[in-house]
Amino acid sequence: MARQHTLSIIKPDATRRNLTGQINAKFESAGLRIVAQKRLQLTQAQAEAFYAVHSARPFFAGLVAFMISGPVVAQVLEGEDAIARNRAIMGATDPKKAEPGTIRAAFAEDIEANSVHGSDSVETAAAEIAFFFSGLEIVG
Ligand code: CMP
Repeated sequence: MARQHTLSIIKPDATRRNLTGQINAKFESAGLRIVAQKRLQLTQAQAEAFYAVHSARPFFAGLVAFMISGPVVAQVLEGEDAIARNRAIMGATDPKKAEPGTIRAAFAEDIEANSVHGSDSVETAAAEIAFFFSGLEIVG
Protein backbone atom coordinates (compact mmCIF):
# COMPACT_ATOMS: atom_id res chain seq x y z
CA MET A 1 0.00 0.00 0.00
CA ALA A 2 1.43 3.38 -0.98
CA ARG A 3 1.44 6.66 0.86
CA GLN A 4 -0.81 8.98 -1.14
CA HIS A 5 -2.15 12.51 -1.19
CA THR A 6 -5.80 13.25 -1.96
CA LEU A 7 -7.78 16.47 -2.37
CA SER A 8 -10.63 17.02 0.05
CA ILE A 9 -13.17 19.87 0.06
CA ILE A 10 -15.40 20.64 3.02
CA LYS A 11 -18.43 22.07 1.22
CA PRO A 12 -20.60 25.15 1.97
CA ASP A 13 -23.36 23.16 3.72
CA ALA A 14 -20.78 22.00 6.26
CA THR A 15 -18.88 25.28 6.73
CA ARG A 16 -22.25 27.03 7.20
CA ARG A 17 -23.07 24.65 10.07
CA ASN A 18 -19.59 25.08 11.65
CA LEU A 19 -18.69 21.41 11.08
CA THR A 20 -15.08 21.84 9.88
CA GLY A 21 -13.56 20.63 13.15
CA GLN A 22 -15.87 17.64 13.50
CA ILE A 23 -15.12 16.57 9.90
CA ASN A 24 -11.38 17.05 10.39
CA ALA A 25 -11.56 14.89 13.54
CA LYS A 26 -12.99 12.06 11.42
CA PHE A 27 -10.09 12.31 8.97
CA GLU A 28 -7.49 12.39 11.74
CA SER A 29 -8.99 9.61 13.83
CA ALA A 30 -9.06 7.41 10.69
CA GLY A 31 -5.31 7.92 10.20
CA LEU A 32 -5.23 10.68 7.60
CA ARG A 33 -3.01 13.73 8.13
CA ILE A 34 -4.10 17.21 6.97
CA VAL A 35 -0.92 18.45 5.25
CA ALA A 36 -2.44 21.55 3.60
CA GLN A 37 -5.64 23.47 4.28
CA LYS A 38 -7.25 26.76 3.28
CA ARG A 39 -10.70 28.31 3.53
CA LEU A 40 -11.86 30.19 0.46
CA GLN A 41 -14.86 31.51 -1.41
CA LEU A 42 -14.94 29.98 -4.89
CA THR A 43 -16.01 32.12 -7.84
CA GLN A 44 -18.48 30.76 -10.40
CA ALA A 45 -15.66 30.35 -12.95
CA GLN A 46 -13.52 28.44 -10.44
CA ALA A 47 -16.38 26.11 -9.44
CA GLU A 48 -17.21 25.48 -13.12
CA ALA A 49 -13.56 24.70 -13.83
CA PHE A 50 -13.17 22.38 -10.85
CA TYR A 51 -16.29 20.37 -11.81
CA ALA A 52 -15.77 20.62 -15.61
CA VAL A 53 -15.95 16.82 -15.88
CA HIS A 54 -19.63 17.10 -14.82
CA SER A 55 -20.50 19.98 -17.17
CA ALA A 56 -22.94 17.91 -19.27
CA ARG A 57 -24.81 16.55 -16.24
CA PRO A 58 -28.29 17.88 -15.43
CA PHE A 59 -27.17 18.74 -11.90
CA PHE A 60 -24.15 20.86 -13.04
CA ALA A 61 -25.72 24.33 -12.70
CA GLY A 62 -27.15 23.50 -9.29
CA LEU A 63 -23.87 22.01 -8.15
CA VAL A 64 -21.93 25.14 -9.17
CA ALA A 65 -24.51 27.42 -7.49
CA PHE A 66 -24.25 25.36 -4.32
CA MET A 67 -20.44 25.33 -4.32
CA ILE A 68 -20.32 29.15 -4.46
CA SER A 69 -23.10 29.63 -1.88
CA GLY A 70 -20.57 29.98 0.95
CA PRO A 71 -16.96 29.27 1.91
CA VAL A 72 -15.28 25.93 1.32
CA VAL A 73 -12.23 24.43 3.02
CA ALA A 74 -9.81 22.83 0.54
CA GLN A 75 -7.38 20.33 2.01
CA VAL A 76 -4.69 17.85 1.11
CA LEU A 77 -4.95 14.63 3.10
CA GLU A 78 -1.96 12.31 3.39
CA GLY A 79 -1.80 8.67 4.39
CA GLU A 80 -1.51 5.06 3.36
CA ASP A 81 -3.99 4.48 0.53
CA ALA A 82 -5.36 7.97 1.26
CA ILE A 83 -7.59 8.22 -1.84
CA ALA A 84 -9.64 5.08 -1.12
CA ARG A 85 -9.45 5.60 2.63
CA ASN A 86 -10.91 9.09 2.33
CA ARG A 87 -13.72 7.82 0.10
CA ALA A 88 -14.55 5.20 2.74
CA ILE A 89 -14.54 7.86 5.48
CA MET A 90 -16.82 10.12 3.37
CA GLY A 91 -19.36 7.41 2.46
CA ALA A 92 -21.55 7.24 -0.64
CA THR A 93 -22.35 10.41 -2.63
CA ASP A 94 -26.02 10.07 -1.69
CA PRO A 95 -26.22 10.27 2.12
CA LYS A 96 -29.27 7.96 2.07
CA LYS A 97 -26.88 5.24 0.81
CA ALA A 98 -23.89 6.15 3.02
CA GLU A 99 -22.70 3.68 5.66
CA PRO A 100 -23.40 4.64 9.29
CA GLY A 101 -20.41 6.44 10.82
CA THR A 102 -19.31 8.05 7.55
CA ILE A 103 -19.13 11.83 7.18
CA ARG A 104 -21.99 11.95 4.69
CA ALA A 105 -24.22 9.70 6.82
CA ALA A 106 -23.54 11.94 9.82
CA PHE A 107 -23.66 15.37 8.23
CA ALA A 108 -24.80 15.56 4.58
CA GLU A 109 -28.11 17.25 3.82
CA ASP A 110 -28.78 15.59 0.43
CA ILE A 111 -27.01 14.24 -2.68
CA GLU A 112 -25.92 17.75 -3.70
CA ALA A 113 -25.20 19.34 -0.32
CA ASN A 114 -23.18 16.31 0.74
CA SER A 115 -20.64 18.05 3.00
CA VAL A 116 -17.39 16.79 1.44
CA HIS A 117 -15.65 16.08 -1.85
CA GLY A 118 -12.75 13.64 -2.28
CA SER A 119 -10.62 12.75 -5.29
CA ASP A 120 -11.51 9.43 -6.93
CA SER A 121 -8.20 8.33 -8.48
CA VAL A 122 -4.45 8.98 -8.45
CA GLU A 123 -4.80 11.07 -11.62
CA THR A 124 -7.68 13.23 -10.39
CA ALA A 125 -5.98 13.67 -7.00
CA ALA A 126 -2.89 15.13 -8.69
CA ALA A 127 -4.98 17.46 -10.87
CA GLU A 128 -7.32 18.52 -8.06
CA ILE A 129 -4.46 19.18 -5.60
CA ALA A 130 -2.71 21.32 -8.24
CA PHE A 131 -5.99 23.24 -8.77
CA PHE A 132 -5.88 24.55 -5.17
CA PHE A 133 -2.29 24.26 -3.89
CA SER A 134 1.31 24.85 -4.88
CA GLY A 135 3.92 22.36 -3.73
CA LEU A 136 5.21 24.89 -1.18
CA GLU A 137 1.84 24.86 0.59
CA ILE A 138 1.85 21.10 1.22
CA VAL A 139 3.77 20.34 4.41
CA GLY A 140 3.84 16.71 5.50
P1 CMP B 1 -18.69 15.23 -5.38
O1 CMP B 1 -18.04 14.03 -4.77
O2 CMP B 1 -18.11 16.56 -5.04
O3 CMP B 1 -18.70 15.07 -6.97
C1 CMP B 1 -19.66 15.69 -7.79
C2 CMP B 1 -20.78 16.29 -6.99
O4 CMP B 1 -21.96 16.49 -7.72
C3 CMP B 1 -21.20 15.33 -5.88
O5 CMP B 1 -20.21 15.24 -4.91
C4 CMP B 1 -22.50 15.96 -5.46
O6 CMP B 1 -22.32 17.10 -4.65
C5 CMP B 1 -23.05 16.38 -6.81
N1 CMP B 1 -23.99 15.39 -7.35
C6 CMP B 1 -23.73 14.16 -7.77
N2 CMP B 1 -24.84 13.55 -8.22
C7 CMP B 1 -25.84 14.44 -8.06
C8 CMP B 1 -27.23 14.42 -8.34
N3 CMP B 1 -27.82 13.34 -8.87
N4 CMP B 1 -27.94 15.52 -8.05
C9 CMP B 1 -27.32 16.62 -7.52
N5 CMP B 1 -26.02 16.70 -7.24
C10 CMP B 1 -25.27 15.62 -7.51
